[in-house]
Amino acid sequence: MAAISPDGILLTGRVAVVTGAARGLGHAIAAAFADFGAHVAVCDRDTPPGDIGAEPAMTLDVRDQVAVGVFAEAVRERWGRVDVLVNNAGGTFCAAFADTSVRGERTLVEENFTQVTGMIRHLLPLMGEGASIINVTSSEAHQAAPGFAVYAAMKAALESLTRSLALELAPRGIRVNAIAPDALPTEGELQMRELVQEGTLPYEPVRLPPLGRLGEPSDAARAALFLAGDLARFVTGTTVHVDGGIHAAGGWRRTP
Ligand SMILES: NC(=O)c1ccc[n+]([C@@H]2O[C@H](COP(=O)([O-])OP(=O)(O)OC[C@H]3O[C@@H](n4cnc5c(N)ncnc54)[C@H](O)[C@@H]3O)[C@@H](O)[C@H]2O)c1
Repeated sequence: MAAISPDGILLTGRVAVVTGAARGLGHAIAAAFADFGAHVAVCDRDTPPGDIGAEPAMTLDVRDQVAVGVFAEAVRERWGRVDVLVNNAGGTFCAAFADTSVRGERTLVEENFTQVTGMIRHLLPLMGEGASIINVTSSEAHQAAPGFAVYAAMKAALESLTRSLALELAPRGIRVNAIAPDALPTEGELQMRELVQEGTLPYEPVRLPPLGRLGEPSDAARAALFLAGDLARFVTGTTVHVDGGIHAAGGWRRTP
């Protein structure tokens, strides 16, 4: 029986790619990976901050497949392989489905789904035995999401993709899992809460997770560290909910 080593939590020498790493969860995940010894490569449509020491650190829109191809080639040239890929970039706007244009819908589909398949397609040739793909979805992939119908549907599609790819890639020793966050205050998350609270919809999001407090971006990083490395070597095709219990609670809301 293989012993569990404290080193198992480290990512020493592993090559980790994180998308959407300029701020929020992506930045926290990339910084944690670097702290735990990984070589980190990042991209974001905003300029990724230099504090992580990522190489390459490219400014690009993940929906732009030509730019993603250039990024993948830069990763290959610098590191020669990819051990961890975190598809974190994503986002939405708040609007009733009836008010969402065809163009707006297409944006949500590309922003939350097809850019992920594109990134995986470009980086999979660099991945081998022991590699880990982590797709950042949302608790809204698992529940009704008025005002976010297409976004939630695309995150649900990403959960489905996660399970199917886990099976397809298992023979190659590549694990595929999802992190479904909620209530982790970031610029993106706060903007959404403000929009909903302006009364655009006849519903409002959960204010207080069952744990009785909001989380923080590093909570997503903790889950990503687990799924990326040896501690999760027998974990594939599943979702880690990082939401203070919101998913488990279903319709139940903790009173203030
Ligand atoms: N924070 C939460 O509680 C929460 C809840 C549910 C889902 N999520 C998911 O977690 C992920 C990160 O969210 P966050 O809260 O950190 O949001 P955020 O808006 O604060 O950060 C997202 C980052 O991704 C980048 N990005 C977005 N679209 C991009 C694109 N097309 N090309 C390149 N870069 C792009 C942004 O520039 C930004 O730096 C997203 O996929 C989001 O849907 C977060």
